[in-house]
Amino acid sequence: MATKSTGSRNGTGKNTTKRTTAAKSAAPTRKNTAKSNGKNGDMPNSKFHQLFMDELKDIYWAEKHLVKALPKMQKAATSSELIDAFADHLALTKGHVTRLEEVFELMGAKPVAKKCEAMDGLVTEAQELISEEEESSVLDAGLIIAAQKVEHYEIATYGSLRTLATRMGHMEAANILGRTLDEEKETDSLLTQIAESSVNEEAMAE
Ligand SMILES: [Fe+2]
Ligand SMILES: [Fe+2]
Repeated sequence: MATKSTGSRNGTGKNTTKRTTAAKSAAPTRKNTAKSNGKNGDMPNSKFHQLFMDELKDIYWAEKHLVKALPKMQKAATSSELIDAFADHLALTKGHVTRLEEVFELMGAKPVAKKCEAMDGLVTEAQELISEEEESSVLDAGLIIAAQKVEHYEIATYGSLRTLATRMGHMEAANILGRTLDEEKETDSLLTQIAESSVNEEAMAE
């Protein structure tokens, strides 16, 4: 069963419009608070900064891993809509890797990947599904579930990273992360639409 994104921790809430408005109106207040506390902007040696960098390394590994996994998912799919969705998302994912490299640069750091156990597990589960199930609409339905689990992980991560970048005053990095966040959400919605409009019905009829 495919599900719609319901948002997650740390700034990946339900309504983009509301969140954007809230973020805009809240931003000056947060900035002023930071100033009044004598903490004007990011402190690269702080634990908060380190947390951001660790999460950045995690998603960098995850995106690079997905560049290798998506072609396998595309090859295993039978629905032409799903095949196209995987192909399109592979192109987007390559762009996500490049954007993360831009964010590393903005943070004054070299891009470093740190193994993401969660993404490794999600991709392994997708591969197990491919090896266990014959090519069919049922496999397509399973691939959509696997892909949406991946998207939800990415949505949680990018939403959190954008929030942290904003908090530290790295607005350009926050904007870059926000663009990827939007693309992950659009992909999640597209997968829901493919499942609900055709794949699930065909899978039930098999
Ligand atoms: Fe991505
Ligand atoms: Fe994605």
